[in-house]
Amino acid sequence: MANLMEKIVALCKRRGFVYPASEIYGGFANSYGYGPYGTELKNNIKNLWWKTFVHDREDVIGIDGPILIHPRAWDASGHTASFNDAMIDCKKCQKRFRADHLVKEATGKDLEGKLAEMTKIIQAKIKCPECKASDWTEAKNFNMMFKTKMNGYSEDIFLRPETAGAIFIEFQNMLDAMRVKLPFGIAQIGKAFRNEVMAGNFIFRLREFEIMELEYFINPESKWDELFESWLQAQEQFALELGASKTSLRRYEHPAEKRAHYSQKTVDIEYEYPFGFGELFGMAHRGDFDLSRHAEFSGKKLEYFDQEAGQRFIPHVLEPTFGLDRSILVALSSAYTEEEVEKENRTVMKFPKAIAPVKIAVFPLLKNKPQLIKKAREVYHDLKTIYQCEFDDNGNIGKRYRRQDEIGTPYCVTIDFDTVEKNAVTVRDRDSMRQEIIKIPNLKRFFEKNL
Ligand code: GAP
Repeated sequence: MANLMEKIVALCKRRGFVYPASEIYGGFANSYGYGPYGTELKNNIKNLWWKTFVHDREDVIGIDGPILIHPRAWDASGHTASFNDAMIDCKKCQKRFRADHLVKEATGKDLEGKLAEMTKIIQAKIKCPECKASDWTEAKNFNMMFKTKMNGYSEDIFLRPETAGAIFIEFQNMLDAMRVKLPFGIAQIGKAFRNEVMAGNFIFRLREFEIMELEYFINPESKWDELFESWLQAQEQFALELGASKTSLRRYEHPAEKRAHYSQKTVDIEYEYPFGFGELFGMAHRGDFDLSRHAEFSGKKLEYFDQEAGQRFIPHVLEPTFGLDRSILVALSSAYTEEEVEKENRTVMKFPKAIAPVKIAVFPLLKNKPQLIKKAREVYHDLKTIYQCEFDDNGNIGKRYRRQDEIGTPYCVTIDFDTVEKNAVTVRDRDSMRQEIIKIPNLKRFFEKNL
């Protein structure tokens, strides 16, 4: 499976999906950038999410809050005090590690938050994975928020480590502007920054990443468990739409002692990545913790007035959170396929059509035949107004097919002499590789039906 990860990483670089950032400077801190096809894939996933959870629902509104918010908001949310990871340093090679990860790998025990116990186990039993020495510091808490400075402020300002903060602090504005009635959600997609002790596993753990998230406000008296379950199912359905199979998904419910004190239930949706199961999405009941704390720290009331019942109260919140970069990794891992076709290996990205970065590639059979080029350009420009299309006249047809297979393009359209004469084209299906002759006037209808 580790081999599979290497193959995916290599394909992503070769085809312009994802590449290691700052490579000409020797790389920088395990960061990655998205190339043209990666960006299309990412935007398709964002758009699918926004359509599913904002446009297709009557009870959700969407916002785009700022990355930099008032520093007191991070005191209120608890991030300044406790958004920590446990780290430990090897004194010999100076490398830094997540203490809880070292312990979990060596013993299977989850000692998150228990610094003294982790130190004892690591110092007694674990060798540095880098230099094999046994010379450790004590495990310490490390706050994961990135700090920066801002003109006019002497204190530290933070890059947001999650998007939820901006939703809670704009709660009153949304009530005033949007006349929303409980239950309702506020959704947001945006960058988040976490100074992870160790980034790694490609785009699974980054320091700069994107979150798609919703705060779903409910009446504290309402039955929340059915709603909670329906959000979990919506998250699983979204993972299936990224291409995940049912068997590659599982739920992990946080035991009471691992849950935040205000949470009545927290569940992670996990996916089986090439390196094993890991968190994909999170779902948490957060009670009234966030609104109450922001009310306390800002001195402003953050309440909902129920006109029918004549009651004023602080709503509770359910929080479905979706990692965008991990969604992309799911799409890439699920799509990656190697097949043997006529004794040759073919690598094909079988993305669900809705998220495929290019929908149709148009090829003239030969580069040096003006009548083929002219017809192919006409077809390309016509389809391009509706679909993400690519024109390619480089190399032989076999090579062009192989390239589009690796990009995951569902359909290739070829124009040759025979088809030009019949005012038709050959359409090749990515998955079955079946070819079909279609009259040009019928082409749009064909794609309307199939894409
Ligand atoms: N507001 C809740 C929240 O932020 P989280 O579980 O800390 O919850 C949300 O993060 C999602 O963000 C995770 O489910 C995961 O998909 C993604 N995520 C978290 N840390 C990440 C990282 N370092 N790199 C990439 N994605 C990450």
